[in-house]
Amino acid sequence: MRTLRTTALSAVAATAVTASMLAGGSSPAVAAPSPDLSITNVTAHLQQLQNIATANGGNRATGRPGYKASLDWVKAKLDAVGYTTTVQSFSTSSGTSYNLIADWPGGDPEHVVMTGAHLDSVSAGPGINDNGTGSAAILEAALAWAGSGNTSRNHLRFAWWGAEEQGLLGSNKYMSLLPTADKDRIDLYLNFDMVGSPNPGYFVYDDNAVGNFARDAMTSYYTSKGIPWEYIDVQGRSDHASFRSYGIATTGMYSGGETTKTSAQAQKWGGTAGSAFDPCYHRSCDTISNINSTALDRNIDMIGHLVWLYADKDFGTTTPPTTPPAGGNLLANPGFESGAVSWAGTSGPITSNTGRPARTGSWKAWLGGNGTTSSENVSQQVTIPSTATAASLGYWIRTDTAETGSTAYDTLKVQVVSGTTTTTLRTFSNVGTSATYAQFTHSLLAWKGQTVTVKFQMNEDSSLQTSFVLDDTSVTTS
Ligand code: PHE
Ligand code: ZN
Ligand code: ZN
Repeated sequence: MRTLRTTALSAVAATAVTASMLAGGSSPAVAAPSPDLSITNVTAHLQQLQNIATANGGNRATGRPGYKASLDWVKAKLDAVGYTTTVQSFSTSSGTSYNLIADWPGGDPEHVVMTGAHLDSVSAGPGINDNGTGSAAILEAALAWAGSGNTSRNHLRFAWWGAEEQGLLGSNKYMSLLPTADKDRIDLYLNFDMVGSPNPGYFVYDDNAVGNFARDAMTSYYTSKGIPWEYIDVQGRSDHASFRSYGIATTGMYSGGETTKTSAQAQKWGGTAGSAFDPCYHRSCDTISNINSTALDRNIDMIGHLVWLYADKDFGTTTPPTTPPAGGNLLANPGFESGAVSWAGTSGPITSNTGRPARTGSWKAWLGGNGTTSSENVSQQVTIPSTATAASLGYWIRTDTAETGSTAYDTLKVQVVSGTTTTTLRTFSNVGTSATYAQFTHSLLAWKGQTVTVKFQMNEDSSLQTSFVLDDTSVTTS
């Protein structure tokens, strides 16, 4: 049930009382106008993160003291204004890392709007643009929400992720531990990773799992402010991928990194053509000086606009679907670009190790290749609709071996597990390997109406490696 808000209008730009108040839809009461988030406050947050880095060896990287100090500082700010904060620790090969989750009390627990940013830097520098900017921006949004006196229709949650730079480890950890029912409650995840690049562009994520409503709200906002924007397909490059692979609606904004601004982009955005959007990307010079304040100011207001808008959006009475639309791929994270997210099995095979190439992107499941007695598998559950008239499992595989001869010592079985029955669809082995990716498909129609596990099971004998490298899996139905 929605509660009428008491608006603290002093915290709000009067001119911003526009579309969000008029676009009522089925909303029974006035929506909160968009806030004018304070660039002064955000700059002070960035200075704090810079000071933390300076006091801790020049970085805020995973496993280094500057990371935990950053997290403790953000947590204290949130605790002081009434957030319920949770620290989730997890281990990485660079040491212990932590996620910080902050829930604003109230709002419909069945409809959660999440906003996140990674808080870790690389070890080369203080990480002020990457990703002090996203971290400080969402911190200011959270603090401003607390100060606004607003009551939200939906439940608001903010997250500061650890170990993004090691491969989205924090957001993956969060999602892998979150019960399915709680995943289903998340209607939207907004991601901010680099929003104040010194030679900025305005790139809107265009790689959603379900729905483009938030992407469209972001582009409409920029257009209404006369800010040109471009779409970007971010692929697996930031934490929204951990949500997207579960079929949760996502979007985000990126002001650009190591790539070069073209002259066409410099024409519309200003700045320097032929120069990187962020020449200090992942370098020691990503300091408090490595920020474009105009871009940062515009982007924090965009973030405030989206948080305020979706705090009150009517997502209906049912929980949102977290499966892709019909005709899409029923497997989540099918190309392994989000790491082990959504896949069960033995730990290790899902990797971005360059010892074997991925077919697309940089991640794949590299099963075998140990040259010692070993068993590994990756698997995922999938439900074949009872109404399906066709159902197909597809995958690409690349194999190479140190074995010789015609005996199958090492095998990879492609299996469907239904209850206690395991059916092997195909067996690959060290005999007849092909170091070129090839696609295989099998019908799954025999399992229509059932929830089954698709499993890739590898067994290797005591010597001479065979590598079975799996990528770009799919289950499609019609
Ligand atoms: N995630 C990248 C990093 O932290 C930056 C990035 C953000 C790249 C968004 C593409 C899109 O280094
Ligand atoms: Zn980075
Ligand atoms: Zn980043």
